[in-house]
Amino acid sequence: MSPRGTRETSQSVKVRPVRARDVTQIMAIDEATSATPWPRHLLMAELGRAGTIDLAMAEGEHEVVGYVLASRYADVWHVLNIAVRPDRRRRGYGRALMVSLFERAGADNLGFTLEVRVSNAAAIQLYRALGFVDHGIRRGYYSDNGEDALIMWRRGVPEDAHEAADR
Ligand SMILES: CC(C)(COP(=O)(O)OP(=O)(O)OC[C@H]1O[C@@H](n2cnc3c(N)ncnc32)[C@H](O)[C@@H]1OP(=O)(O)O)[C@@H](O)C(=O)NCCC(=O)NCCS
Repeated sequence: MSPRGTRETSQSVKVRPVRARDVTQIMAIDEATSATPWPRHLLMAELGRAGTIDLAMAEGEHEVVGYVLASRYADVWHVLNIAVRPDRRRRGYGRALMVSLFERAGADNLGFTLEVRVSNAAAIQLYRALGFVDHGIRRGYYSDNGEDALIMWRRGVPEDAHEAADR
């Protein structure tokens, strides 16, 4: 897989597992991106847990320009966060991170789910393009402004999730 934009640089661009040394750059991207960035201890705890797939988009060996964090809960992968550094957006990096996540999670053929702010048109468009479908609303999900979350699923929606989506 070769994200768009690689031709603009002579460095290699690749998706690889997150390393401990990436944490500061991941936090900087999160802080530039999110109204509620993750504190370091939560990020470290997530990266150290079993049953996660945490991927970085790296330019060269050390420059992290995007990441995706996913955790497996029972029979579904939950996409916890994805972000691309603002100056590297619309180059295919977000899509490449998600496709790599699907590939690495692939053997078990499980579904994926996530929540996204209803106002986040860019992310919703990305997820729809990757086969996610809308599956209900969680009212007032985001603590900073009380915004609703759109729940999305990609394959493998279990029966109890249909009930959750109606709440
Ligand atoms: C959402 C995000 C990760 C997308 O990353 P990206 O690298 O810019 O996305 P890509 O270049 O891979 O785009 C893939 C597709 O997503 C959609 N998309 C991405 N950005 C979009 C935008 N601003 N407006 C509309 N569609 C958009 C398009 O369908 C695009 O395909 P196209 O370029 O062929 O039209 C990025 O905008 C981001 O970091 N946003 C802030 C963090 C965030 O909101 N994360 C989601 C939390 S739930």
